[in-house]
Amino acid sequence: MSTAVYLEEAARQYALKAVKADQNGEYEVAAKFYEKAAEILERLVKLYPDIPFKEAYIRMIREYRRRSKHLRELAKRKVKAVASGDEEEDIDLDEIVLAQKPSITFNDIVDLEEVKQAIREAIVYPVRRPDLFPLGWPRGILLFGPPGCGKTMIAAAVANEIDGVFFMVDAAVIMSKWLGEAEKNVSKVFKKAREVAVNEGKPAIIFIDEVDALLGVYQTEVGGEVRVRNQFLKEMDGLLDKSFNYHVYVIGATNKPWRLDDAFIRRFQKRIYVPPPNFEARIELFKYYTSKIKLDETVDIVELARMTEGYSASDIKDIVQAAHLRTIREFFEKNNGIGEPRPVTMEDFMEVLKVRKPSIDKSMVDAYLKWYERFKAL
Ligand SMILES: Nc1ncnc2c1ncn2[C@@H]1O[C@H](COP(=O)(O)OP(=O)(O)O)[C@@H](O)[C@H]1O
Ligand SMILES: [Mg+2]
Repeated sequence: MSTAVYLEEAARQYALKAVKADQNGEYEVAAKFYEKAAEILERLVKLYPDIPFKEAYIRMIREYRRRSKHLRELAKRKVKAVASGDEEEDIDLDEIVLAQKPSITFNDIVDLEEVKQAIREAIVYPVRRPDLFPLGWPRGILLFGPPGCGKTMIAAAVANEIDGVFFMVDAAVIMSKWLGEAEKNVSKVFKKAREVAVNEGKPAIIFIDEVDALLGVYQTEVGGEVRVRNQFLKEMDGLLDKSFNYHVYVIGATNKPWRLDDAFIRRFQKRIYVPPPNFEARIELFKYYTSKIKLDETVDIVELARMTEGYSASDIKDIVQAAHLRTIREFFEKNNGIGEPRPVTMEDFMEVLKVRKPSIDKSMVDAYLKWYERFKAL
């Protein structure tokens, strides 16, 4: 056995022991095993910097450490609780959910008018006038498209478009949390969302970013991803049940829709393509992102938009930032931070464009459209 395989196996064994102890409420024992598993994984990624799944391992190290720390605190609290006769506390939902409302609104999102309208129709209208939807309304909405074009932004802005409670869930976090608990996390989030909808009479929106991660690969535990997937499907069906008349929505976002299986896709009745910015949208994006910086008159935004076919909204933001940074860097090098930096010129943009390549190509766009076509009727 190679050292790498040996270390992986050892880490896995410790992690399994940790989970078992964790489930039995043996906090201190579990904490020790999580720590061991983390240590071994750490050694593994140090010894083999190019190992596959390195990212996943790094994430696990972090999660095991966090869990270990949390358990040690629980252990302390338990001792206190026993002493004072209090109930012990349950694991916090806060760890998996970002409960505070993001500050983004639809107005901060350049272009994507069709996407915004589709969201309004799917969520805002049924919330305001459920009586106009005798046949029900979609509970699952899937945003898909190339990275950096506003999926996460749109979902976050929905929270501000309606008076609702927003649960922002990172699928990768759910999956890599700690072995064996991922499906519990899924059901906890749905339970909380239902409670909010029923008790507070407000819509609850569960946003799962990188939703394809729920289907696995990060999970090393055998069968773990299947349980999570099934739990998720069950929860989605619960929302579709005709007797459940409250407003709970699930918005999923993904750059890789083809990784979702049919059963999964079927639960997302509404699928919305978030496209890369076209020529007009790129003009708007350049205008938007340059509006806060000083521009030289040489800067031709229409020309920039023409030159940036295939660049995502996020790329364009980075380009503007990088062009601006050139003036700041120069300012500190030459003027030592005294006075004012010069305006950004067209040449700054040209220099940046020389080294920044577009992140989206035609074959990528075709792949999304092809996928969309295939699943339209499903
Ligand atoms: N339509 C847009 N208007 C303005 N900024 C955008 C837009 N789309 C993306 N961005 C910028 O790019 C960043 C990444 O976008 P994000 O929503 O995370 O993309 P995705 O989720 O599709 O990968 C955002 O934080 C924002 O700064
Ligand atoms: Mg995103």
